[in-house]
Amino acid sequence: MTVKLFQPYQLKEVTLKNRIVMAPMCMYSVTEKDGKATDFHITHYTTRAVGQVGLIIVEATAVEEQGRISEFDLGIWNDDHIAGLHKIVEQAHQYGAKMGIQLAHAGRKAEVPGSIYGPSAIAFDESSRVPEEMSVEKIKQTIEAFKQGAVRAKQAGFDVLEIHAAHGYLLHEFLSPLSNQRTDEYGGSQENRYRMLSEVIAEVKSVWEGPLMVRVSATDYTEGGLTIEDHVQFAVWMKEQGVDLIDVSSGALVRAAINVYPGYQVKLSEQIKEEANIPTGAVGLITSPLQAEEILQNNRADIIILGRELLRNPYWARGAADELQVEIEAPRQYQRGW
Ligand SMILES: Cc1cc2nc3c(=O)[nH]c(=O)nc-3n(C[C@H](O)[C@H](O)[C@H](O)COP(=O)(O)O)c2cc1C
Repeated sequence: MTVKLFQPYQLKEVTLKNRIVMAPMCMYSVTEKDGKATDFHITHYTTRAVGQVGLIIVEATAVEEQGRISEFDLGIWNDDHIAGLHKIVEQAHQYGAKMGIQLAHAGRKAEVPGSIYGPSAIAFDESSRVPEEMSVEKIKQTIEAFKQGAVRAKQAGFDVLEIHAAHGYLLHEFLSPLSNQRTDEYGGSQENRYRMLSEVIAEVKSVWEGPLMVRVSATDYTEGGLTIEDHVQFAVWMKEQGVDLIDVSSGALVRAAINVYPGYQVKLSEQIKEEANIPTGAVGLITSPLQAEEILQNNRADIIILGRELLRNPYWARGAADELQVEIEAPRQYQRGW
């Protein structure tokens, strides 16, 4: 058996040294409420690069100040953010990791002072603020903000971009009929609800030639919400638009009971991969090397995205190589202990 987890993966012109990917995870560690990366971010991401993760996706990074989940989120809404992000990329690159960044807008789930926005004036839940319904002008400005975020990501040296269209944040809110009750060209039919994401993808691609991933929540787990069938259609459209890979998560648009078990989202990845014929990433309670290898060997996903497991163990890749009996290169400094 050739172990797939440690085979390189080609994402457009970018070669990942293995199929191990770090999930975007908000660290809420910006100290001055200015969106700027801190020393913590450099240490945190560089550690996973030393740990031989193939692709690291930097946490949800706001394309607009009002699009932050909290005031402690990373930002990419102005040029002052580029230097700090560049430092993270530069450090992580030294250990052979490729670097991605998740471009995000929190929409109605933003918890920052001032106005918050959504497709319709419907709050996330009873304790959340009601967002302002976005005008078409505001929609166009927000699409431009994603585009400018992509320009800055390129200047910061990132290899891969991920657009955040999952977890009940702005782009997911446009996709789902539960949060989008607009009567203009951005709401109503499935095609209209896809329009916002479609325009973000098109504008981002006008300035970004590298690999483009989109993270989705492949089901809303709620009557009247999005289903996996909707997401197969969205994935077909995204493939036509030149998206390279779908990162398949689920839920968080509304409060819903979710049965969570090891690999609970893998079947969603498998269905999108098979029915839309597009590469996918599997994420969600994947913790063991054998589990990861099973997913890859059975073609249920092309890459394995790890979140919390990499918080617990930045050297997961080393243990996985041991368990799967593959030799991987040690960082030069650690050779005597590898
Ligand atoms: C601390 C933390 C922060 C997170 N922040 C983000 C984020 O910025 N963007 C995102 O798409 N998902 C975020 N998530 C979800 C993870 O990317 C991942 O999908 C989820 O944790 C399930 O994978 P796991 O079981 O391997 O942790 C976050 C999860 C955690 C635990």
